[in-house]
Amino acid sequence: MENMFRVLSHYFIKNRGTITMVQTKLALKNYLTTEQLSKRAVEALIERAIEFKHMPEYLYPQYSEKYVSNLFFENSTRTHLSFEVAQKKLGMNVIQFDPSTSSINKGETLLDTALTLEALGINTLVIRSGEEHYYEELLAEPAFNGSIINGGDGSGHHPSQSLLDVMTIYEEFGHFDGLKITIVGDLAHSRVARSNAEMLSRLGAEVYFSGPIEWYHPDFEVYGHYMPLDEIIDYVDVVMLLRVQLERHENPMALKNEIYHQAYGLTIERANRMKPSAIIMHPAPVNRGVEIADELVTSPQSRIVAQMQNGVFSRMAILEAIINGRG
Ligand code: CP
Repeated sequence: MENMFRVLSHYFIKNRGTITMVQTKLALKNYLTTEQLSKRAVEALIERAIEFKHMPEYLYPQYSEKYVSNLFFENSTRTHLSFEVAQKKLGMNVIQFDPSTSSINKGETLLDTALTLEALGINTLVIRSGEEHYYEELLAEPAFNGSIINGGDGSGHHPSQSLLDVMTIYEEFGHFDGLKITIVGDLAHSRVARSNAEMLSRLGAEVYFSGPIEWYHPDFEVYGHYMPLDEIIDYVDVVMLLRVQLERHENPMALKNEIYHQAYGLTIERANRMKPSAIIMHPAPVNRGVEIADELVTSPQSRIVAQMQNGVFSRMAILEAIINGRG
C-alpha cells in the first residue's frame, strides 16, 4: 500500500466533466459512474476504505452536522444497509425515506422529491432506481445542488459495488496488473458487469466475459473478450459470477436452472479446476444452484462474505469523499 499513500498528496478527480486537483484528500460532488474517477482516485478510495477497515471505531471521523437519505426504488439488502451502517459509523444523521409511503405515490417526481429533501437540509442522497441515468435529470436542474451517490441505475451502473469489488481484489492480490478476471453470466442486464469491466480494465486487469454468448454484447469488447468458462477456468485469478436477473428478462429464461448451472454456472467440477490461489466473487444476492453451486458460496476460495463486509468500508470512503467535496 505504500505507493497508494504517496498518491494521496495530490491526485486528479474527474467530476461532472471537470478535472480538479485536490491536495491530501479526495473530494467528489457526486459519485455516479466508475468512469468519473481517475485511476489514482480509485486507488485513494481503496486506500481509505482499507484504513477504515483496520482503524478502531473511536478514530472514525464524525460528521454529526451532515444529513443523508437513502432513496431505494428497487429492492436492496446489501447496498441499502451497508450505506446506512457506513453513514452511522461516520456519525451522519440518516433520515429514513420509504418510497412506499412517500409522496412519490401521489405522483411526485424524483426531481421534486430531491428538491424537497434538499430544502429540508438533506443534501446527500443515495439513490437506487430502475431507470438508467435517472441522475441526469437531477443534475440538469440548476435549483438542485445536492450530491447524488448512485446506488444502481437499472442495467446502467453500480459504482459503489465496483469499489468494494476492487477493494476485495486488492486485499487478496495487492495489485491489479495482469490479473485474469472473468465476469460470468447475465452480462446483458448487469450494471455490476459494466461498472466492474470498466474499472478493472483501467486498473490493469485482463478482463474476460463468459456465460451464454447471447447475453454478451459487443459493447464489452472495449474492456475484454468473450471466452467460454470451460476454456478459461484453469487460468483465471478471479471468477466473478453474476446473478441471473430474471426480473429484467423480457421473456422468462428459456434455460431451466439446472441446465443453466451445468452449462454456464460454477459447478463443483469447474471449481476444482481453479488455481488454488484463485478466488470466487459474486455481488449477491446469489441464486444458489444456478450461477454457483450451493456448497461454493462459503467455500475457502469464496470471497462473497468479504465483499459484503468491504461494502461498509468502501462506502464510508465514498461518503467521506462526498463530504469533502461539499466542503
Ligand atoms: N449487490 C447488491 O447490489 O445487492 P443488493 O441488491 O442487495 O443491494
